[in-house]
Amino acid sequence: MELSAADQAAVRALWKKMGTNVGVYATEALERTFLAFPSTKTYFPHWNLSIGSAQVKALGQKVADALTLAVDQLYDLPGALSALSDLHAHKLRVDPANFHLLGHCLLVTLARHYPGDFSPAMQASLDKFLSLVTSALTSKYS
Ligand code: HEM
Repeated sequence: MELSAADQAAVRALWKKMGTNVGVYATEALERTFLAFPSTKTYFPHWNLSIGSAQVKALGQKVADALTLAVDQLYDLPGALSALSDLHAHKLRVDPANFHLLGHCLLVTLARHYPGDFSPAMQASLDKFLSLVTSALTSKYS
């Protein structure tokens, strides 16, 4: 699967519109993930995962920065996310199924905040982008 020129333009346009709010939305997506899919919480023992938690906010900003880097390097997502892929596969050992759960919550969050932009075509482009991010992040599992 590849991102077409139209997919790339759609993803870049929404990212531009989000501006400095990517961290806010990534944080909301994490909060939704922990609430809707509680099994994901097992990767964060001893963390405060409640809504508004400073720890989740800090991680949300890091996830947002990684996604923004990916949007800047759509032509080489595996390269852009290589170090993070090592981290999640080898050190954190996150079960790949969890990436789909977070991706789903990112889509829900963006649809909620940008209802006017969230055409079926935009959904499809974002879904492809997030699937490619997941593929890149899970590429180091053997
Ligand atoms: C779009 C998908 C994801 C992206 C872009 C992403 C990105 C990141 C980033 C940038 C960090 C911080 C790395 C650092 O501090 O150097 C991180 C840490 C982490 N991620 Fe992910 N992640 C994703 C999905 C997930 C999922 C689905 C889980 C588990 C449910 C997960 C679990 C963790 C854990 C446990 C940490 C370490 C937190 C800490 O101890 O500070 N990640 N991730």
